[in-house]
Amino acid sequence: MVFYRPAASFPCCRVSHNMRLLDLLRKATESLEAAGIEDALPDAEMLVFHAVGMDRLEAYVSNPEVKSPDAARATRLIRRRAHGEPVQYVIGHIEFLGLTINVGKGVLIPRPETELLVEEAIRTARNMKAGIRPRAFRDPLSILDLCTGSGCIALALAKEIPEAEVYGSDVSKEALPYARKNAKINGIANARFLQGSLFEPFRGRKFDIITANPPYVRRDELDSLQREIRDWEPLSAIDGGEDGMDYYCQILSSAGEYLNPDGCIFLELGYDQAGAVQKLAQEQGFEDAAVINDYAGIGRILKARKTRRPLEYIPVM
Ligand SMILES: C[S@@+](CC[C@H](N)C(=O)[O-])C[C@H]1O[C@@H](n2cnc3c(N)ncnc32)[C@H](O)[C@@H]1O
Repeated sequence: MVFYRPAASFPCCRVSHNMRLLDLLRKATESLEAAGIEDALPDAEMLVFHAVGMDRLEAYVSNPEVKSPDAARATRLIRRRAHGEPVQYVIGHIEFLGLTINVGKGVLIPRPETELLVEEAIRTARNMKAGIRPRAFRDPLSILDLCTGSGCIALALAKEIPEAEVYGSDVSKEALPYARKNAKINGIANARFLQGSLFEPFRGRKFDIITANPPYVRRDELDSLQREIRDWEPLSAIDGGEDGMDYYCQILSSAGEYLNPDGCIFLELGYDQAGAVQKLAQEQGFEDAAVINDYAGIGRILKARKTRRPLEYIPVM
């Protein structure tokens, strides 16, 4: 857990005349350290270099004199970070699988482990496309991303599988404008975003792939989250109920209705939820419910397949 000193106590990043970029960086780093920010240097680098519009290598090699509007911009960004605001909110965007994803208050910052979910879903989608799993009468591939937030999962899938129809939904009014804007800035036309709770906007529809990174933190763990997350990211994106399982139960109990036969669901999992969610999927009649580990060896993704519908009995007249 990260502790922050009260915001008023950190020294301001003072900028003198003729200051060079690396001097400004040093002062910015000191300001963040004084405010109790853990990763002061990398955060200062991101903010200062962003303020002057230079990449890291260029900045270290050229070390130019800082123009005063740039210095003023850097000081404003550093001040926001020193107050505890996540660096991604201050900069306003983050890279996710080669996409630029705009983020800000009201929308969860995409995490690196979520990229794994997308990669697994892409692999399955390509196999479906290649016909390894028969998909009679199901063209184009249809994908639904529940709890879409910034739209990062839906957009990464839409970009990789341009012939697919991708839908994202979220209950949050604040999140959806980010998802739609992110589609626009990344030039993605095959993704649509609808507001509503879980499957509610898609009654009667069927999909080949469903993905979700739902809120999954146990309620009694919310207080021990980093203050950065607790105070800045939306609680509705994190709170998974008493045991963290609320959304997995709701999603898995309805997903069968919204999947085509042989369709697959991919769920991101909390660090200790793999066994319980896998069991839930099996109880709901999913086949091949498998847990995929992340690079730290933690069961991070559940992949499960909807049983192929048994042939209908047609009475002989
Ligand atoms: C953990 S965030 C995931 C955001 C994004 N998919 C990602 O991976 O970065 C969970 C999201 O679920 C949304 N959410 C919470 N309750 C919901 C509900 N009942 N129906 C749909 N979305 C919901 C939140 O607004 C939030 O955007």
